[in-house]
Amino acid sequence: MSDFLTLLTDTLAEGVVTASDDVPARYHHDWAGLPAVRPLALVRPRTTQEVSDTLRLCHENGVPVVPQGGLTGISGAAHPEAAGIVLSLERMNAIRAVNPRDATMSAEAGVILEAAQGAAADADLMLAIDIGARGSCQLGGVIATNAGGHNVVRYGMTRDQVLGLEVVLADGTILEDMNTLVKNNAGLDLKQLFIGSEGLLGVITACVLRLHPASPARETALVGCASTDDAIEVLNKARTGLGSMLTAFEVMWASFHDTMASRCDVPTPLSGKHAVYIIVEARGPQGDSTRQALEGFLETAFESGLIEDAVLANSVREEHAIWAVRETPAEYATVLGPVIPFDIGIPTDRMAETVAKVEARIQQGWPDALALFYGHIGDNNLHLVVHVPAAGDTQPEAEVKAAVYAIVRDMGGTISAEHGIGAIKRDYMHYSRTQTHLRLMQSVKTALDPKGIMNPGKGFDQLAS
Ligand code: LAC
Ligand code: ZN
Repeated sequence: MSDFLTLLTDTLAEGVVTASDDVPARYHHDWAGLPAVRPLALVRPRTTQEVSDTLRLCHENGVPVVPQGGLTGISGAAHPEAAGIVLSLERMNAIRAVNPRDATMSAEAGVILEAAQGAAADADLMLAIDIGARGSCQLGGVIATNAGGHNVVRYGMTRDQVLGLEVVLADGTILEDMNTLVKNNAGLDLKQLFIGSEGLLGVITACVLRLHPASPARETALVGCASTDDAIEVLNKARTGLGSMLTAFEVMWASFHDTMASRCDVPTPLSGKHAVYIIVEARGPQGDSTRQALEGFLETAFESGLIEDAVLANSVREEHAIWAVRETPAEYATVLGPVIPFDIGIPTDRMAETVAKVEARIQQGWPDALALFYGHIGDNNLHLVVHVPAAGDTQPEAEVKAAVYAIVRDMGGTISAEHGIGAIKRDYMHYSRTQTHLRLMQSVKTALDPKGIMNPGKGFDQLAS
């Protein structure tokens, strides 16, 4: 064992450090699909102090640290490196407190999102973060990614749900900022630096999350539209017609909807074929008002010719049937094979044009490719996955990215609306950020992590010139 590992093992409690050869394969990669890498060691602390001890030793010895949560990120931010340790927060999984009067929850970073949602529901409150990976992603990773998901249209991104953080800085210093106050204007709001920082600035060990009143009535509809522009108009009408009842507006173009329904053998509740499918979810108080509002909205949209067809769920089972196709991205590897995923952001006015241009460009370059579009258009966020069947395991990733990101840049969009940069989008960071942005980001990194041990070479690290 190296001197450093001996030091680490001797300093931390028994069972916290696992040496390289014994690190289970599941820690060798995240969901980004990059080639597996065996890290120097796996460290699984049980306390904030142990995280601090670990980072202090890594800082003193210049050893890279890759923080890991539920490993569900698809940009490779949690991908190990051979010369560094991986620091898994999975054992720090206590919900410390739920405070119904303040509508807050304090929880450790390793709490699974679904468990946090459940704890909020037990107190008749709601945690407004919801993403497909809810059953395995962990709060620390969700915050470090500033994850988006299905509820952003109503409640905003993860950033909007975080009131406080406990963070261990690169040199082991503990930054205690477990603020529970809605308003706290005493100087800079430093926690914001760590939200969406992809493990480059420190390790999030605990958080205070804002909770919302639970809305007992939930109504879900699946809508078929003739075009992207119609879908955008339906969104505008839903925003006015449903107001704050509108909690999800998830769009699936036929490319995604039809392909995934058929490959995953998921029956879809609408019988006809449409260019665009939308899941509209409304939540509101006990009683019939939410249902009436959604029914009224759908009727008006139908009469004005904006929607071609719609079906409203009558039971939880029917609700699941409406979401079933939208939940299939977890099956890509099984039913498609390797894919090239995108989480681009596009101004609403240019959404239809972008979909058409990207479709045409992929068709021109890779005539047999599948290009599946879906996304959170209320948040300017378009997902695309490309799969070129003939390419097998060696998908033309670099070429497809170059083609798609060139269009995104021309449209005034962003290369990442919600999944982050990680290890896989760095080459295109300058399409979305200026050198001034990148230099400022690097200055913040250098101030907080002078030895550059935190997730080196990921995200924005070392991209400034
Ligand atoms: C989704 C994830 C991939 O929206 O962001 O399904
Ligand atoms: Zn998404």
